[in-house]
Amino acid sequence: MDLKAGEVAVVTGAASGIGLALAHRFAQAGLRIAMVDVEVERLNEAVEAVAATGAEAVGFTCDVRTADAVNDLATRVVEQFGGVQILCNNAGVADTGDPWFGPIESWDWVLGVNFYGVVHGVRAFLPHLFGGGHIINTASMAGLFPGLSPIYDASKHAVVALTENLYHQMNLIEAPIGVSCLCPGWVRTGIFDAERNWPAELGQRPESSPVVETVKGHLERAIAEGLTPAAVADLVVDAVTENRFWVFPHPDWLEMAADRWQLVAEGTNPEPPNSVPGMPPRDQLAAEIRTALGLG
Ligand SMILES: NC(=O)c1ccc[n+]([C@@H]2O[C@H](COP(=O)([O-])OP(=O)(O)OC[C@H]3O[C@@H](n4cnc5c(N)ncnc54)[C@H](O)[C@@H]3O)[C@@H](O)[C@H]2O)c1
Repeated sequence: MDLKAGEVAVVTGAASGIGLALAHRFAQAGLRIAMVDVEVERLNEAVEAVAATGAEAVGFTCDVRTADAVNDLATRVVEQFGGVQILCNNAGVADTGDPWFGPIESWDWVLGVNFYGVVHGVRAFLPHLFGGGHIINTASMAGLFPGLSPIYDASKHAVVALTENLYHQMNLIEAPIGVSCLCPGWVRTGIFDAERNWPAELGQRPESSPVVETVKGHLERAIAEGLTPAAVADLVVDAVTENRFWVFPHPDWLEMAADRWQLVAEGTNPEPPNSVPGMPPRDQLAAEIRTALGLG
């Protein structure tokens, strides 16, 4: 669909990173923006920054993990703007806890934000989009092949699956609703520090797992050297206007996903990629992790 001035975009996770860049990009196109986040101070600053460009931007505090909160958000957004055309289910977090020996709350948190946040967003806003609209769900390249984080990767695989299903269903019923799935590699955002939003009601923030402790220097550098969020936002707008499902800001990563599927098709046991861009080669990483785990 073409973006028209005055249309309304809802962006979750809009206080930082990709979400903030999306808000700026939609503002540039003349849209009115509902900027949604759980981090109040940062959200206020972000709304001010977008509004300073002359756009109509309104901040909505909401924790996307809860269905009631997102349903209430949809009511408030429609009351404020009269309707919605673009929905970006983008809020996301990455964990550092040990998936197998650490607290189960790491799973609750990451799946709550990354997966249920998207489920709640689609369910709450879909009824408002039948006048014509587009949904963009932020997954990750980690949704196309498993990497180093079982919890994060599982959440993103689930987002890819639900988004592809949604696309088929919208087409089947000939709904005037486009669907896109955003799968970035490394992007220069605040994701490395995601546990700043660890919810108090889940108890103590889990200790970092030995694997995360080992790779965190590499991750931090890869993210710091990643693509700019603004470049990702441009690609999202292109995908909306061209009605394209996949948004791949890092096409060079696709070979790893294709290699994975080749093994699946052959029924061959899984092999991790030899090297992920921005990370050390697999052998070096494996040696570092084995040492950290005391395996020599
Ligand atoms: N940065 C990367 O390298 C990368 C790569 C692939 C996918 N992604 C995905 O991009 C999306 C955006 O992340 P980012 O990289 O811009 O990180 P970011 O930390 O800069 O932004 C994420 C935003 O989500 C918000 N948020 C967290 N929990 C929330 C909740 N419960 N309810 C509402 N908002 C919440 C945060 O406050 C933050 O403003 C995420 O879904 C992430 O998984 C990022």
